[in-house]
Amino acid sequence: MRAPLRAFTIAALAGGAALGYSSVVERNWFALRRFEVPVLPAGTAAIRVLHISDMHLTPGRHRLLSWLRSLEALAPDLVVNTGDSIAHEQSVQPLLDALGPLLDRPGVFVYGSNDLYSPIPANPLRYLWDTSAEKHSRHVPDLPWAELGAGMAAAGWMDANNARGRVKAGGLDIEVGGVHDSHIKKAHYEDIAGPADPTADLRLGVMHSPEPRILDQFAADGYDLLLAGHTHGGQVCVPGYGTLVTNCGIEPARASGLHRHPAAGEPDRPWLHVSAGLGTSPWAPFRFACRPEATLLTLVPRIG
Ligand SMILES: [Fe+2]
Repeated sequence: MRAPLRAFTIAALAGGAALGYSSVVERNWFALRRFEVPVLPAGTAAIRVLHISDMHLTPGRHRLLSWLRSLEALAPDLVVNTGDSIAHEQSVQPLLDALGPLLDRPGVFVYGSNDLYSPIPANPLRYLWDTSAEKHSRHVPDLPWAELGAGMAAAGWMDANNARGRVKAGGLDIEVGGVHDSHIKKAHYEDIAGPADPTADLRLGVMHSPEPRILDQFAADGYDLLLAGHTHGGQVCVPGYGTLVTNCGIEPARASGLHRHPAAGEPDRPWLHVSAGLGTSPWAPFRFACRPEATLLTLVPRIG
């Protein structure tokens, strides 16, 4: 075999192997991340918050549903779902069934754009130079987002889409403020604007997309902990380098995991956890060097 042909063959085999690995193996290789967050008042007992996001559930994702079902064993005090839960009209009931006993625990949810609009084919490489923000040409939702929300709300979870409220979890009085998805122009921070209650044990901000302008508003209003999803952690990352794209305004270094917002500044600025999420668009069904994940955040008293 001549050298160019040999090189082409090797490259094709490597590409095929990477595609198979990312779409079959890593896409179903779910990880539970754990972080300790010093965000509670002194003397408060720790509580556990399970953060799930971006399931993009479609029929047949039995491994995802099974893993989701197993999270009840963590016995979280609070569950937060930051949206993009479904990607198919028949996914609501399977998702609610998989959440199962987690729905009996205190919970909070917001929607992502994919809860309203079914996925359409798109070139995944476009995320290298653009985001999906405000590119939606459709204005009439075709997915059963209301049924999804009704199912979670019926169980007692707080609908935090452009809403503020109070949640009791783990013996704590938590003020929650949340916004809908900014990528379809449904985030209305003005509906929840105003200083968060300093008498609450914790001030929790919840959103789908971690847009810096919205994070800034939560920070200015005195929220302690901000939870978001949407980025998929980049979904396809470069080993040894990390995230290439975030599909929103946040920089790649904070595309997933626990950070502060702003990234640098005062010591008491809020904590920010961005989930890399559990799924993918059905039109880009692969993850590479970016395992699908849920996160157990153990909230403990502030240091000092
Ligand atoms: Fe998503």
